[in-house]
Amino acid sequence: MSIFRRLTGVVAPCCLLVGLTAICLSGCSKSEASSTPTGGITPQQFADGVHAVMMADRTVYATHVVTNLKKQDSPVTADEYWKDSENAIPLPAQMFRMGAELVAENPEAGFSYSLRSQWPLNEQHQPKSDFEQKALEFISEHPGDNFYGEEELGGKKYFVAVYPDRAVAEACWSCHNEHPNRGDGYPEFGQDDVMGGVLVRVPL
Ligand code: HEC
Repeated sequence: MSIFRRLTGVVAPCCLLVGLTAICLSGCSKSEASSTPTGGITPQQFADGVHAVMMADRTVYATHVVTNLKKQDSPVTADEYWKDSENAIPLPAQMFRMGAELVAENPEAGFSYSLRSQWPLNEQHQPKSDFEQKALEFISEHPGDNFYGEEELGGKKYFVAVYPDRAVAEACWSCHNEHPNRGDGYPEFGQDDVMGGVLVRVPL
């Protein structure tokens, strides 16, 4: 397994971490990216930072939108089939995926991210390489740890961080455990289980 070797890369000064989509890595030249840090951020710090923003947004949406509507007995509910239903809004995982898709289409974003799981309800979330599979196994086998490594794709090197996505609320495991998309060997998830991971990929 390739474990993250602390890089001397400097992502700043050309990058400002001001939100999920407003992040620029594209202005960094190669030489800057391999120079000694001079107060800039490493790829790991960048990945940790954008991951914090993603998780904060998902939690705020789940708590202050989805759960709040439920508490108010609102006719509007979060529903997987929101596109074809009345009074429906997307699930937090769908919000997350749609955001990731927009970032993937944005040439200025300079990085990509996605949800992944060894047991995906949506097959788009399947691991896409041996490297991703190993990273997911690592976070399942080492609860509490993140995975950091480097992967080469199409001749380009990437820093990859994978953060565990855990069953923090009863709704997580009850919805997944009863979902019709469960494949063969789908686990019976319970409190705090690692259900998958959030993957952040940064070009080096
Ligand atoms: C109401 C049902 C529901 C709830 C509640 C729910 N999920 Fe999901 N989850 C889904 C669906 C459906 C998908 C696939 C969404 C898509 O199409 O992108 C998904 C996707 C995921 C994925 C990506 C892998 C996959 O299965 O496709 C992870 C990881 C995940 N959820 C974790 C969680 C966690 C952690 C929680 C609680 C904080 C949670 N989910 C709450 C239904 C749910």
